[in-house]
Amino acid sequence: MPEEPQRLQKVIAQAGLASRRGAEEMISQGRVQVNGQIVNTLGVKVTHGDHIQVDGAPIEGREKLVYYLLNKPRGVVTTNDDEKGRKTVLDILADVDQRVYPVGRLDYDTTGALLLTNDGQVANQLMHPKSQVNKTYMAKVKGIATEAQLAPLKKGVVIKGRKTAPARVAITRVDHDKKTSMVRLTIHEGRNHQVKNMLAKVGLPVEKLKREQYAFFDLIGLQPGEYRKLTNAEVKQLQAQDYRMLRRK
Ligand code: URA
Repeated sequence: MPEEPQRLQKVIAQAGLASRRGAEEMISQGRVQVNGQIVNTLGVKVTHGDHIQVDGAPIEGREKLVYYLLNKPRGVVTTNDDEKGRKTVLDILADVDQRVYPVGRLDYDTTGALLLTNDGQVANQLMHPKSQVNKTYMAKVKGIATEAQLAPLKKGVVIKGRKTAPARVAITRVDHDKKTSMVRLTIHEGRNHQVKNMLAKVGLPVEKLKREQYAFFDLIGLQPGEYRKLTNAEVKQLQAQDYRMLRRK
């Protein structure tokens, strides 16, 4: 979670007590205290260490849990804070009041399905290797892929001294003129650059990578850069740790 100072009205809104505008009114009305002192001017920033009360009641521990699915565009980092100052996925969700963070990572040049939430429990469960959450990628690779070439990925290949778990893999298209192929690959591990490394290992360097599915989420209705709130049913399914694919109606 970021520790940098945040505007007081934003923190009150994140706690689910009011909209940002409503929180500004609460402040102006003198209903808000920071560390025991009434703050009735806007512009004050607070950090996690500050004790905030509204109408005398502490706001801590009341952050509403929210869940979003983003179709991450290319050219955006997944980390909260990029040392090179590049655009982050959180810049795309700037209108979200809560302090959400991404569940896992996609590379700067990878597009596709990425969950963001402030529900640490759900995020940790999803990222835990034991959960074996399926992630399906579509890769455009250099070269004419063959079944024989992809076969080792179905058993596991050694990358940086560790064997990968067996992957599901299929060639979906081959362009003989451009000498490129489209390969769909499903894995449940989440090592750094895993798909690129796996395909490079069998002689198929990745030119473009898109995550089409994460657990039971796909990208239907979301263009790159667009995001949506999860439905209540989807949240329940996540909380129940039921990551099986849903059959679309
Ligand atoms: N594997 C990769 O190589 N890159 C990603 O962004 C995700 C999986």
